[in-house]
Amino acid sequence: MPALFVTFEGPEGCGKTTQVRLLAEWLSARGYDVLATREPGGTRIGEQIRAILLNPAHTEMVPAAEILLFSAARAQIVHEVIIPHLQRGGIVLCDRFADSTLAYQGYGHGLDLNVLRIITAFATAGLTPDITFYLDIPVEEGLRRKAQAGKAEWNRLDQRELAYHQRVQEGYRQLIAAEPARWVLIDARGSIEAVHMQVVREMERRLAVQHGTAR
Ligand code: TYD
Repeated sequence: MPALFVTFEGPEGCGKTTQVRLLAEWLSARGYDVLATREPGGTRIGEQIRAILLNPAHTEMVPAAEILLFSAARAQIVHEVIIPHLQRGGIVLCDRFADSTLAYQGYGHGLDLNVLRIITAFATAGLTPDITFYLDIPVEEGLRRKAQAGKAEWNRLDQRELAYHQRVQEGYRQLIAAEPARWVLIDARGSIEAVHMQVVREMERRLAVQHGTAR
């Protein structure tokens, strides 16, 4: 079976986590060897780094420390989980990946994009996704959804102001424009099922291309 690395990106509250789970179930039911994971986290070490990153008490964290912690968690998951699974010919679904760093730390915080690209390339050993789904939803709506989900979901990075999240979204738009073949734009304002159907339709198309059955 062909290896495929699929990532999900989008603003807060866009529903990525649910969509990753649904796509993983859909692929497993069709016999694909699928592994779903998330960033930051997804490994024993990465989950500890995640707790440091998202702890609302860590208000003093400087942007350079933040990016290096995200990158450390990413290096761990790439080498420990993602690359081995792809080498076995499996499909990996990842809830956020390097594009989040460019969008949040680069466009959001204004850190040098070229420096971020170098750090990211080092952390990932140059691994890039085959497909990236962007779950598109207005920033205000996503933040509202997330706030409604309750306090347990609310983390340090959500405390940032609306303007920050808008810069992040604008950043994503530029990343998509720069690499349109990799990104799949999904309207994430609909129901969970409607969004899932859009994701599935695109996956079917890509899998058909891989199997050489595309018309
Ligand atoms: P999480 O609770 O997983 O939020 P979401 O459900 O929106 O993915 O928290 C991850 C947070 O970390 C989210 O606010 C985005 C942020 N983030 C970065 O700032 N840079 C990164 O490189 C990554 C992977 C995530």
